[in-house]
Amino acid sequence: MSGTQRVEVGGATPYAIDIGPGLLGDGERLVAPVRGRHVLLLSDSHVAPLYAARVVAALRTARPGLHVATHVMPAGEAHKTLASFGCVIDALAALGATRDATVYALGGGVVGDLAGFAAACWMRGIDCVQVPTTLLAMVDSSVGGKTAVDIPQGKNLVGAFHPPRAVFADTAALRTLPPRELRAGLAEVIKYGAIRDPLFFDWLEDRREALLAGDDDALAEAIARSCGHKAGIVERDPLEKGERALLNLGHTFGHAIEAEQGYAGGDAATGALNHGEAVAVGMVLAARLSAQLGMAPEADTGRLRALLDAFGLPTALPAGLAPEALLARMRLDKKNVAGRLRLVLWRGLGQAVVVPDVDESQVLELLAS
Ligand code: NAD
Ligand code: GLY
Repeated sequence: MSGTQRVEVGGATPYAIDIGPGLLGDGERLVAPVRGRHVLLLSDSHVAPLYAARVVAALRTARPGLHVATHVMPAGEAHKTLASFGCVIDALAALGATRDATVYALGGGVVGDLAGFAAACWMRGIDCVQVPTTLLAMVDSSVGGKTAVDIPQGKNLVGAFHPPRAVFADTAALRTLPPRELRAGLAEVIKYGAIRDPLFFDWLEDRREALLAGDDDALAEAIARSCGHKAGIVERDPLEKGERALLNLGHTFGHAIEAEQGYAGGDAATGALNHGEAVAVGMVLAARLSAQLGMAPEADTGRLRALLDAFGLPTALPAGLAPEALLARMRLDKKNVAGRLRLVLWRGLGQAVVVPDVDESQVLELLAS
C-alpha cells in the first residue's frame, strides 16, 4: 500500500485528504488549491529545517510567479498563543497577501491550529491548506476546520471554525517524528475506536507492534481509517452542534491537565504531558467516571487502559495536580452549557455519549481518587 489514498470530506465546504509518501515534493498536487498569487508557509523551528525548502521549491517549480514567504514559529504548545498569531498576521501583511492568498500549515497540530486561525481572520477569511507532519495532525487536527490558540485561562478558547481547502498528509514525514510524538498521535487514533468502532480497536490491539515500529502500511491504514471517521462526523456536524462533540472523549480532562501544566508538554525537561498524552489520561478518566456513574462496565475501562499502556501512553493523572484546580479548568470547557459540566463519557467500548449536567462532586471524587 505505497500509493496515495484519498478520503473525501463532504458537506457545505468539501475538500479532500490525500495520504501517502512523497506528497511534500509533489508540486503539482500541492499547488492545485492555490487561487491567487500569494502563499504564506507557516512552519515551526523543528519542522522547517527538515521540510520547508522542499515544499517551497515544489510550489515554485509547479507555479512560477507565485509569491511564497515562509514564517517559522518556535516549536511547541507553549507558542500556540495570541502573540504568535500576531506574528503570523504581520507576516501576511508583509507579504501583501490579498483575499485570494493561501496559508500553508506545515507541521503538527500547533502549526495547523495557528495557521488556520490566522487564515480565518486575515481579511475575514483566506484559504488554508493543511500539510500535517505529525501523526496526531494527520489523523485529527488537520481535518475538520477547528482552529484556535490557547490563553493562560484555558486551551483553544480563542478560535474559529475554518475548514481547510485541502489536506496533504505525507506519511514519509513520520520517519523523522520523535517516538514520543508518534505515541501521542496513536492516542487520538485509539480515540476513534473507543468512541465508535470496536473493530478498529481490535485491529489496533493486533497491529500494536507494527504501528509502534513505524511500519508504513500499518500507519497509512490507521491514518486513512481515522480520517474516514473524522470526515464522516465533521461533514454531518461541522460546527459541533451535536455528534462532533463525541470526538472530544477525554479532552475536557486532558485540556485541564495541559492548562494546569502551563502548556509545557513539548518540553521534555518539565515532565509535562503533551496533548496526545493528556487525552490518553483523559479518556481513562472518562471511562472510569462512566463506570463510577453506573453507565459502563469496569472491564471496558481495563481494556482501554491496557491498550494505551501497550502503546506507551500514560493512563493516570500526573502527580501534583490539585483536583479543585482541574475542576475549575473544566468549568471553562467549550462544551459546557449554562454553567453545567457537559462531558463526553461512554456506555462501553465504541459507545461514546454526551452527558449534560454531570455532578461536580462525582468528578471531584474521581480526580481525588
Ligand atoms: P505539535 O504541533 O507540537 O508537534 C509535536 C512536535 O513534533 C513538535 O515539537 C514539532 O515541532 C515536532 N514535529 C512535527 N512534525 C515533525 C516531523 N515530521 N519530524 C520531526 N519533528 C516533528 O503537536 P501535535 O501533537 O501535532 O498537535 C497538538 C495540537 O493539536 C494541540 O494544540 C491540540 O490542541 C491540537 N489539536 C487540534 C485539533 C483540531 O481539531 N483542530 C485536534 C486535535 C489536536
Ligand atoms: N478534535 C476534535 C474535533 O475536531 O472536533
